[in-house]
Amino acid sequence: MSNLMIIKLGGSVITDKTKFKSVRTGVLESVSKELAQVVKTGDYNLIIVHGGGSFGHPLAHKYKLTEGILNFESLIGISETIDSMRSLSLYVTEIMRKHGIPVFPIQTSAIALMDKDQLIYFFQETIKHALTRHLVPLLWGDVALDLSKGCSILSGDEIIRFLSKKFSPDKVIFGTDVDGVFLDFPTNSKLVRVINSDNLDRVMNAIKPVSYTDVTGGFYKKMQVMIDIARQGILVQIINLLRPGNLLKAIKNLDKIGTIIEL
Ligand code: IPE
Repeated sequence: MSNLMIIKLGGSVITDKTKFKSVRTGVLESVSKELAQVVKTGDYNLIIVHGGGSFGHPLAHKYKLTEGILNFESLIGISETIDSMRSLSLYVTEIMRKHGIPVFPIQTSAIALMDKDQLIYFFQETIKHALTRHLVPLLWGDVALDLSKGCSILSGDEIIRFLSKKFSPDKVIFGTDVDGVFLDFPTNSKLVRVINSDNLDRVMNAIKPVSYTDVTGGFYKKMQVMIDIARQGILVQIINLLRPGNLLKAIKNLDKIGTIIEL
């Protein structure tokens, strides 16, 4: 598949993480406008994956879903979290379609199975066939059934790691609410432009102390996934979606914005 890009819309950028179930409509509008320009050229194939933000993490935390099925409340929690993520993806889908993007939403919890927190099964045929029909598959971080624990949380990043192995995209773009990877979080003055084999250990040591803030492991865990993808020879770029134009530049390889991981 030529010119295939997998794009993550981070939960912290498309939702307001400080307010339960609050969408950042303005960000979704500007992201959709930029994606629509790309889609209309017909030159690219896109897979979009969004995170949970304030629609996912608070519920996963409330019902302790990373610990698995503990009691009857866990079952209610699974159901409620799946629905909350569906409502977020409905916002995303509607805004994107308004801008002319033929989104094909795929409820991740319906096609994935995990075992001991590892993704072991993911039905991807639908994604492949949607792409050949010029539809834009949209998936999202979600609850997944886990063969050992009952349930687990499958992050958008893990979905992308899996899809990258199967589809070998030309590039994976992680859209966040920061300008890239910083050596001095949270001051954020030392932006790393390129991560390669020369500075990888130094960067990972610098970001290690960053706390594990969300149910899917925080920034260090996300970086490990990104590095794993880059090690497959896939270009990974981390960009700030709060800056209009960034997504377009990243897709078209116009400017070296954000942080690029090349391993
Ligand atoms: C989390 O997905 C999904 C749930 C908590 C249900 P992600 O881990 O991809 O979400 P963000 O991008 O960190 O918000």
